[in-house]
Amino acid sequence: MAHSIITVATMKGGSGKSTLASCLAVHWQLHGRRSAILDADPQCTIARLATREKALGGVAVIEDATDDAYKAAQRLVGSYDTVIIDTPGFRSQATLACLGVTDFVLVPVKPSPFDVDRMLDTLNVLINGVSGRRPMFRCVLTQTTRDSVIAKHIRSELAEAGFPVLDSEMTNRVVYAEAALWGATPTLLDKKGPAAREIAAIADEVEQICQSMSHVNRAAIA
Ligand SMILES: Nc1ncnc2c1ncn2[C@@H]1O[C@H](COP(=O)(O)OP(=O)(O)OP(=O)(O)O)[C@@H](O)[C@H]1O
Ligand SMILES: [Mg+2]
Repeated sequence: MAHSIITVATMKGGSGKSTLASCLAVHWQLHGRRSAILDADPQCTIARLATREKALGGVAVIEDATDDAYKAAQRLVGSYDTVIIDTPGFRSQATLACLGVTDFVLVPVKPSPFDVDRMLDTLNVLINGVSGRRPMFRCVLTQTTRDSVIAKHIRSELAEAGFPVLDSEMTNRVVYAEAALWGATPTLLDKKGPAAREIAAIADEVEQICQSMSHVNRAAIA
């Protein structure tokens, strides 16, 4: 997964984009991949997080919510192994342009029909292609309650509609918000804790997909 740009996007606000983006960046940083977050949300959630005590474990955070944010991502990916773009919870030109340069898109969705409906707008943008190309994407269920009927239902509804969903999910845990109080993620506070393990599982799944994708691309070029 060398030098990848990963965008976390959905036009549904509050679905866990910034939490997921910061958790993945810290996880990869702690596992030896130099990680940067491009904060393309004018709310600057992640840039503010990075000013707190734990400073996201040294992950570089660059703020750019302008229409040129995608250019900043392209520059950063030369110096970092992974650039994660956090986007706002509404339609923005910055997000659309970032999707055009991204290798992989994660679409977080809370298991509720209201959230799914709004998220479908994002998926339609992806499926119709941005700047003539369609980035690889996966939905990821967030703030789930383990073994809940609604999460299983939404998972199978998405799969049936042809929207791929990661097997791993982010369950609802107060430690995500608590860690943020210190400018941290659960992985920084307890590397072996349950939240850190679920983030590791999401990160591993994303890495596997990106790796298999790069094999396919290489085969296509050969
Ligand atoms: N897995 C989780 N368990 C518990 N709380 C969570 C979880 N993920 C996110 N949250 C909380 O839900 C709220 C919204 O999360 P977050 O800010 O990451 O969403 P967002 O999609 O970035 O929102 P916005 O669209 O406003 O940028 C925050 O208070 C966050 O702490
Ligand atoms: Mg956010």
